[in-house]
Amino acid sequence: MQQITLTQPDDWHLHVRTGDMLKTVINHTAKQFARAIIMPNLQPPVSNVAQALSYQQEIQQATSSAYAFTPLMVLYLTNSTTIEDVKQAAESAAVQAFKLYPAGATTNSDQGVTDLQAMFPVFEAMEKHHVPLLIHGEVTDAEIDIFDRERLFIDQKLRFIHQNFPALRIVLEHVTTREAVQFVQETPANIGATITPQHLLYNRNAMLVGGIKPHYYCLPILKRESHRLALVAAATSGNPKFFLGTDSAPHLKHLKETSCGCAGCYSAYGAIELYAQAFEQANALDKLEGFASFYGADFYQLPRNTKQITLEKIDWQVPNDYAIAEGMQLTPLKAGEMLHWKLKG
Ligand code: DOR
Ligand code: ZN
Repeated sequence: MQQITLTQPDDWHLHVRTGDMLKTVINHTAKQFARAIIMPNLQPPVSNVAQALSYQQEIQQATSSAYAFTPLMVLYLTNSTTIEDVKQAAESAAVQAFKLYPAGATTNSDQGVTDLQAMFPVFEAMEKHHVPLLIHGEVTDAEIDIFDRERLFIDQKLRFIHQNFPALRIVLEHVTTREAVQFVQETPANIGATITPQHLLYNRNAMLVGGIKPHYYCLPILKRESHRLALVAAATSGNPKFFLGTDSAPHLKHLKETSCGCAGCYSAYGAIELYAQAFEQANALDKLEGFASFYGADFYQLPRNTKQITLEKIDWQVPNDYAIAEGMQLTPLKAGEMLHWKLKG
Protein backbone atom coordinates (compact mmCIF):
# COMPACT_ATOMS: atom_id res chain seq x y z
CA MET A 1 0.00 0.00 0.00
CA GLN A 2 1.49 3.35 -1.00
CA GLN A 3 -1.02 5.73 0.49
CA ILE A 4 -3.66 5.71 3.21
CA THR A 5 -6.42 8.25 3.69
CA LEU A 6 -8.03 8.60 7.10
CA THR A 7 -10.60 10.77 8.74
CA GLN A 8 -8.55 13.43 10.53
CA PRO A 9 -7.46 12.02 13.91
CA ASP A 10 -7.51 13.56 17.39
CA ASP A 11 -4.95 13.22 20.18
CA TRP A 12 -6.74 12.33 23.41
CA HIS A 13 -3.67 12.86 25.64
CA LEU A 14 -1.16 15.63 25.00
CA HIS A 15 1.28 17.87 26.89
CA VAL A 16 2.14 21.15 25.19
CA ARG A 17 3.59 23.25 28.10
CA THR A 18 3.79 27.06 27.70
CA GLY A 19 6.04 29.78 26.20
CA ASP A 20 8.70 28.85 23.62
CA MET A 21 8.10 25.13 23.97
CA LEU A 22 4.39 25.58 23.28
CA LYS A 23 5.07 27.65 20.16
CA THR A 24 7.00 24.81 18.55
CA VAL A 25 5.13 21.72 19.67
CA ILE A 26 1.56 22.92 19.19
CA ASN A 27 2.06 23.32 15.45
CA HIS A 28 3.46 19.81 15.15
CA THR A 29 0.20 18.58 16.65
CA ALA A 30 -2.09 21.00 14.80
CA LYS A 31 -0.78 20.01 11.35
CA GLN A 32 -2.16 16.49 11.79
CA PHE A 33 -4.80 16.46 14.55
CA ALA A 34 -8.13 18.34 14.65
CA ARG A 35 -8.39 18.31 18.44
CA ALA A 36 -6.29 17.37 21.43
CA ILE A 37 -6.95 16.82 25.10
CA ILE A 38 -4.47 19.17 26.77
CA MET A 39 -2.99 17.91 30.01
CA PRO A 40 -3.08 20.38 32.93
CA ASN A 41 0.19 19.54 34.71
CA LEU A 42 1.69 23.01 34.48
CA GLN A 43 3.41 24.71 37.38
CA PRO A 44 1.05 25.82 38.98
CA PRO A 45 -1.51 23.32 37.68
CA VAL A 46 -4.56 24.25 35.61
CA SER A 47 -7.14 23.52 38.27
CA ASN A 48 -10.15 25.72 37.58
CA VAL A 49 -12.18 26.89 34.60
CA ALA A 50 -10.70 30.41 34.55
CA GLN A 51 -7.15 29.01 34.36
CA ALA A 52 -8.22 26.56 31.64
CA LEU A 53 -9.70 29.36 29.54
CA SER A 54 -6.57 31.46 29.81
CA TYR A 55 -4.35 28.47 28.94
CA GLN A 56 -6.62 27.64 26.01
CA GLN A 57 -6.22 31.18 24.73
CA GLU A 58 -2.43 30.98 25.02
CA ILE A 59 -2.51 27.73 23.02
CA GLN A 60 -4.75 29.24 20.34
CA GLN A 61 -2.44 32.24 20.01
CA ALA A 62 0.56 29.93 19.57
CA THR A 63 -1.17 27.89 16.85
CA SER A 64 -0.58 28.87 13.24
CA SER A 65 -3.69 30.22 11.53
CA ALA A 66 -3.02 27.68 8.77
CA TYR A 67 -4.56 24.99 10.96
CA ALA A 68 -8.09 24.49 12.26
CA PHE A 69 -7.25 23.05 15.64
CA THR A 70 -9.22 22.91 18.87
CA PRO A 71 -7.50 22.45 22.25
CA LEU A 72 -9.82 20.58 24.62
CA MET A 73 -9.09 21.52 28.20
CA VAL A 74 -8.72 19.38 31.32
CA LEU A 75 -8.63 20.40 34.97
CA TYR A 76 -6.07 19.03 37.40
CA LEU A 77 -7.64 17.40 40.46
CA THR A 78 -6.11 18.54 43.72
CA ASN A 79 -7.04 17.80 47.31
CA SER A 80 -8.90 21.10 47.27
CA THR A 81 -11.05 20.51 44.16
CA THR A 82 -14.68 21.12 45.13
CA ILE A 83 -18.09 19.99 43.92
CA GLU A 84 -18.57 23.56 42.72
CA ASP A 85 -15.44 23.20 40.53
CA VAL A 86 -17.04 20.12 38.98
CA LYS A 87 -20.30 21.96 38.28
CA GLN A 88 -18.41 24.81 36.63
CA ALA A 89 -16.42 22.36 34.53
CA ALA A 90 -19.61 20.62 33.45
CA GLU A 91 -21.07 23.94 32.33
CA SER A 92 -17.94 25.02 30.44
CA ALA A 93 -17.77 24.21 26.75
CA ALA A 94 -13.97 24.44 26.87
CA VAL A 95 -13.41 21.89 29.64
CA GLN A 96 -13.86 18.20 28.90
CA ALA A 97 -12.59 16.33 31.93
CA PHE A 98 -10.60 16.18 35.15
CA LYS A 99 -7.20 14.51 35.43
CA LEU A 100 -6.22 12.53 38.48
CA TYR A 101 -2.50 12.41 39.19
CA PRO A 102 -1.70 10.47 42.34
CA ALA A 103 0.69 12.85 44.17
CA GLY A 104 4.29 12.09 43.20
CA ALA A 105 3.45 9.82 40.25
CA THR A 106 5.07 11.89 37.49
CA THR A 107 6.07 15.33 36.15
CA ASN A 108 4.44 18.17 38.15
CA SER A 109 2.25 15.81 40.16
CA ASP A 110 3.25 17.06 43.60
CA GLN A 111 -0.06 18.90 43.88
CA GLY A 112 -1.94 15.76 42.93
CA VAL A 113 -4.32 13.79 45.07
CA THR A 114 -2.95 12.25 48.29
CA ASP A 115 -6.13 10.57 49.58
CA LEU A 116 -8.40 9.03 46.97
CA GLN A 117 -11.22 8.31 49.34
CA ALA A 118 -11.37 11.96 50.37
CA MET A 119 -12.15 12.74 46.71
CA PHE A 120 -15.28 10.57 46.62
CA PRO A 121 -17.72 13.51 46.88
CA VAL A 122 -15.94 15.05 43.88
CA PHE A 123 -16.11 11.77 41.92
CA GLU A 124 -19.79 11.56 42.78
CA ALA A 125 -20.32 15.06 41.35
CA MET A 126 -18.39 14.08 38.21
CA GLU A 127 -20.56 11.00 37.78
CA LYS A 128 -23.72 13.08 38.27
CA HIS A 129 -22.65 15.86 35.88
CA HIS A 130 -21.23 13.46 33.24
CA VAL A 131 -17.68 14.78 33.47
CA PRO A 132 -15.07 12.13 32.61
CA LEU A 133 -12.20 11.28 34.95
CA LEU A 134 -8.81 10.76 33.29
CA ILE A 135 -6.40 8.77 35.42
CA HIS A 136 -2.63 8.42 35.62
CA GLY A 137 -2.87 4.89 36.95
CA GLU A 138 0.19 4.23 39.07
CA VAL A 139 0.60 3.73 42.80
CA THR A 140 3.30 5.92 44.25
CA ASP A 141 4.42 4.10 47.41
CA ALA A 142 8.22 4.30 47.53
CA GLU A 143 8.62 0.57 48.20
CA ILE A 144 6.60 -0.54 45.15
CA ASP A 145 8.69 -1.60 42.19
CA ILE A 146 8.31 0.85 39.32
CA PHE A 147 7.38 -1.95 36.90
CA ASP A 148 4.47 -3.02 39.18
CA ARG A 149 2.97 0.39 39.80
CA GLU A 150 0.26 0.29 37.13
CA ARG A 151 -0.88 -3.25 37.88
CA LEU A 152 -1.19 -2.49 41.60
CA PHE A 153 -3.04 0.77 40.97
CA ILE A 154 -5.68 -1.16 39.05
CA ASP A 155 -6.13 -3.75 41.79
CA GLN A 156 -5.86 -1.47 44.80
CA LYS A 157 -7.47 1.77 43.57
CA LEU A 158 -9.15 1.70 40.19
CA ARG A 159 -11.48 -1.25 40.81
CA PHE A 160 -12.60 0.49 43.98
CA ILE A 161 -13.32 3.80 42.19
CA HIS A 162 -15.21 2.00 39.42
CA GLN A 163 -17.26 -0.08 41.91
CA ASN A 164 -18.28 3.03 43.84
CA PHE A 165 -19.07 5.12 40.77
CA PRO A 166 -20.19 2.61 38.16
CA ALA A 167 -21.53 5.25 35.76
CA LEU A 168 -18.46 7.52 35.94
CA ARG A 169 -16.69 7.69 32.59
CA ILE A 170 -13.02 6.88 33.18
CA VAL A 171 -10.04 6.91 30.82
CA LEU A 172 -7.11 4.88 32.10
CA GLU A 173 -4.40 6.93 30.41
CA HIS A 174 -1.35 5.54 28.62
CA VAL A 175 -1.87 1.88 29.49
CA THR A 176 1.34 -0.13 29.54
CA THR A 177 0.48 -3.61 30.82
CA ARG A 178 -1.44 -6.75 29.94
CA GLU A 179 -3.33 -6.31 33.23
CA ALA A 180 -4.52 -2.83 32.20
CA VAL A 181 -5.70 -4.17 28.85
CA GLN A 182 -7.61 -6.97 30.59
CA PHE A 183 -9.20 -4.57 33.07
CA VAL A 184 -10.43 -2.32 30.28
CA GLN A 185 -11.68 -5.26 28.22
CA GLU A 186 -13.63 -6.70 31.15
CA THR A 187 -15.32 -3.50 32.32
CA PRO A 188 -18.35 -1.78 30.73
CA ALA A 189 -18.20 0.73 27.89
CA ASN A 190 -17.72 3.74 30.19
CA ILE A 191 -14.13 2.64 30.90
CA GLY A 192 -11.66 3.42 28.09
CA ALA A 193 -7.91 3.68 27.66
CA THR A 194 -5.39 5.61 25.62
CA ILE A 195 -2.26 4.00 24.19
CA THR A 196 0.93 5.90 23.27
CA PRO A 197 3.16 5.28 20.24
CA GLN A 198 6.19 4.50 22.39
CA HIS A 199 4.38 1.76 24.29
CA LEU A 200 3.30 0.17 20.98
CA LEU A 201 6.75 0.42 19.40
CA TYR A 202 9.16 -0.33 22.26
CA ASN A 203 9.77 -2.50 25.26
CA ARG A 204 12.11 -1.66 28.12
CA ASN A 205 15.15 -3.07 26.33
CA ALA A 206 15.04 -0.04 24.02
CA MET A 207 15.69 2.13 27.05
CA LEU A 208 18.19 -0.03 28.92
CA VAL A 209 20.20 -2.34 26.64
CA GLY A 210 23.52 -1.08 25.29
CA GLY A 211 23.46 2.04 27.49
CA ILE A 212 20.75 4.10 29.13
CA LYS A 213 18.67 5.98 26.54
CA PRO A 214 16.89 8.81 28.32
CA HIS A 215 14.64 9.71 25.40
CA TYR A 216 12.75 6.43 25.93
CA TYR A 217 12.17 7.22 29.59
CA CYS A 218 8.53 8.05 30.25
CA LEU A 219 5.94 7.24 32.89
CA PRO A 220 4.45 4.73 33.15
CA ILE A 221 7.80 3.22 32.23
CA LEU A 222 8.20 0.92 29.21
CA LYS A 223 7.51 -2.69 30.18
CA ARG A 224 8.65 -6.12 28.94
CA GLU A 225 7.82 -7.43 25.45
CA SER A 226 4.81 -9.53 26.48
CA HIS A 227 3.09 -6.34 27.68
CA ARG A 228 3.93 -4.49 24.47
CA LEU A 229 2.34 -7.33 22.51
CA ALA A 230 -0.82 -7.09 24.62
CA LEU A 231 -1.01 -3.35 23.86
CA VAL A 232 -0.53 -3.89 20.13
CA ALA A 233 -3.26 -6.54 20.17
CA ALA A 234 -5.63 -4.17 22.00
CA ALA A 235 -4.92 -1.17 19.77
CA THR A 236 -5.36 -3.18 16.58
CA SER A 237 -8.37 -5.22 17.79
CA GLY A 238 -11.02 -2.74 16.69
CA ASN A 239 -12.28 -2.60 20.29
CA PRO A 240 -13.55 1.00 20.65
CA LYS A 241 -12.45 1.16 24.30
CA PHE A 242 -8.85 1.70 23.14
CA PHE A 243 -7.94 4.93 21.37
CA LEU A 244 -5.10 7.23 20.42
CA GLY A 245 -3.42 9.38 23.07
CA THR A 246 0.21 10.16 22.41
CA ASP A 247 1.22 11.44 25.85
CA SER A 248 3.73 13.47 23.83
CA ALA A 249 5.59 15.16 26.69
CA PRO A 250 8.33 17.55 25.59
CA HIS A 251 11.24 18.31 27.90
CA LEU A 252 14.37 20.24 26.97
CA LYS A 253 17.22 17.99 25.88
CA HIS A 254 19.53 19.03 28.72
CA LEU A 255 16.85 18.11 31.26
CA LYS A 256 16.54 14.60 29.84
CA GLU A 257 20.25 13.95 29.17
CA THR A 258 21.38 14.40 32.74
CA SER A 259 21.99 12.43 35.94
CA CYS A 260 18.32 12.75 36.95
CA GLY A 261 16.36 13.11 33.74
CA CYS A 262 12.71 14.04 33.27
CA ALA A 263 10.08 11.53 32.16
CA GLY A 264 8.49 12.03 28.75
CA CYS A 265 8.87 11.11 25.08
CA TYR A 266 8.38 13.78 22.44
CA SER A 267 6.29 12.20 19.70
CA ALA A 268 3.95 14.98 18.50
CA TYR A 269 6.22 15.88 15.55
CA GLY A 270 5.24 12.64 13.80
CA ALA A 271 2.56 11.07 15.92
CA ILE A 272 0.24 9.69 13.27
CA GLU A 273 3.24 8.42 11.30
CA LEU A 274 4.56 6.61 14.38
CA TYR A 275 1.19 4.96 14.95
CA ALA A 276 1.00 4.03 11.26
CA GLN A 277 4.35 2.30 11.61
CA ALA A 278 3.17 0.36 14.66
CA PHE A 279 -0.09 -0.69 12.97
CA GLU A 280 1.73 -1.67 9.78
CA GLN A 281 4.15 -3.85 11.76
CA ALA A 282 1.09 -5.60 13.19
CA ASN A 283 -0.44 -5.97 9.72
CA ALA A 284 -3.40 -3.91 10.87
CA LEU A 285 -3.36 -0.64 8.96
CA ASP A 286 -7.05 -1.16 8.31
CA LYS A 287 -7.67 -0.72 12.06
CA LEU A 288 -5.81 2.60 12.33
CA GLU A 289 -8.72 4.89 11.46
CA GLY A 290 -11.05 3.60 14.18
CA PHE A 291 -8.31 3.87 16.82
CA ALA A 292 -7.03 7.26 15.69
CA SER A 293 -10.13 9.04 14.45
CA PHE A 294 -13.37 7.50 15.74
CA TYR A 295 -13.26 5.78 19.12
CA GLY A 296 -11.90 8.67 21.19
CA ALA A 297 -14.50 11.10 19.83
CA ASP A 298 -17.22 8.53 20.50
CA PHE A 299 -16.00 8.00 24.07
CA TYR A 300 -15.98 11.75 24.77
CA GLN A 301 -19.40 12.03 23.08
CA LEU A 302 -18.06 14.57 20.60
CA PRO A 303 -18.71 14.53 16.84
CA ARG A 304 -16.29 12.62 14.64
CA ASN A 305 -14.14 14.78 12.36
CA THR A 306 -15.15 15.12 8.75
CA LYS A 307 -11.91 16.25 7.06
CA GLN A 308 -9.38 13.70 5.90
CA ILE A 309 -5.62 13.34 5.98
CA THR A 310 -3.40 11.25 3.74
CA LEU A 311 -0.23 9.38 4.66
CA GLU A 312 2.23 8.36 1.97
CA LYS A 313 4.69 5.51 2.09
CA ILE A 314 7.84 7.64 1.93
CA ASP A 315 10.99 7.26 4.04
CA TRP A 316 12.07 10.43 5.83
CA GLN A 317 14.60 11.15 8.49
CA VAL A 318 13.52 12.45 11.88
CA PRO A 319 15.54 15.55 12.88
CA ASN A 320 18.13 15.09 15.62
CA ASP A 321 16.67 18.04 17.51
CA TYR A 322 14.17 20.86 17.26
CA ALA A 323 15.40 24.33 18.28
CA ILE A 324 13.21 25.77 21.03
CA ALA A 325 15.14 28.88 22.10
CA GLU A 326 18.75 30.08 22.12
CA GLY A 327 20.81 27.03 23.16
CA MET A 328 17.69 25.02 24.05
CA GLN A 329 16.73 21.93 22.11
CA LEU A 330 14.05 19.28 22.07
CA THR A 331 15.03 15.76 21.04
CA PRO A 332 12.22 13.78 19.42
CA LEU A 333 11.48 10.09 19.80
CA LYS A 334 13.39 8.26 17.02
CA ALA A 335 15.77 11.24 16.56
CA GLY A 336 17.89 10.74 13.44
CA GLU A 337 16.06 7.53 12.47
CA MET A 338 13.89 6.86 9.44
CA LEU A 339 10.11 6.91 9.51
CA HIS A 340 8.29 5.09 6.71
CA TRP A 341 5.01 7.03 6.51
CA LYS A 342 4.73 10.74 5.88
CA LEU A 343 1.77 13.07 6.28
CA LYS A 344 0.92 14.59 2.91
CA GLY A 345 0.65 18.34 2.55
O1 DOR B 1 6.36 10.49 30.81
C1 DOR B 1 5.53 11.27 31.21
N1 DOR B 1 5.66 12.61 31.04
N2 DOR B 1 4.48 10.79 31.86
C2 DOR B 1 3.61 11.59 32.47
O2 DOR B 1 2.71 11.08 33.08
C3 DOR B 1 3.79 13.07 32.45
C4 DOR B 1 4.59 13.48 31.32
C5 DOR B 1 5.08 14.91 31.43
O3 DOR B 1 4.27 15.80 31.69
O4 DOR B 1 6.27 15.15 31.23
ZN1 ZN C 1 0.67 12.54 30.15
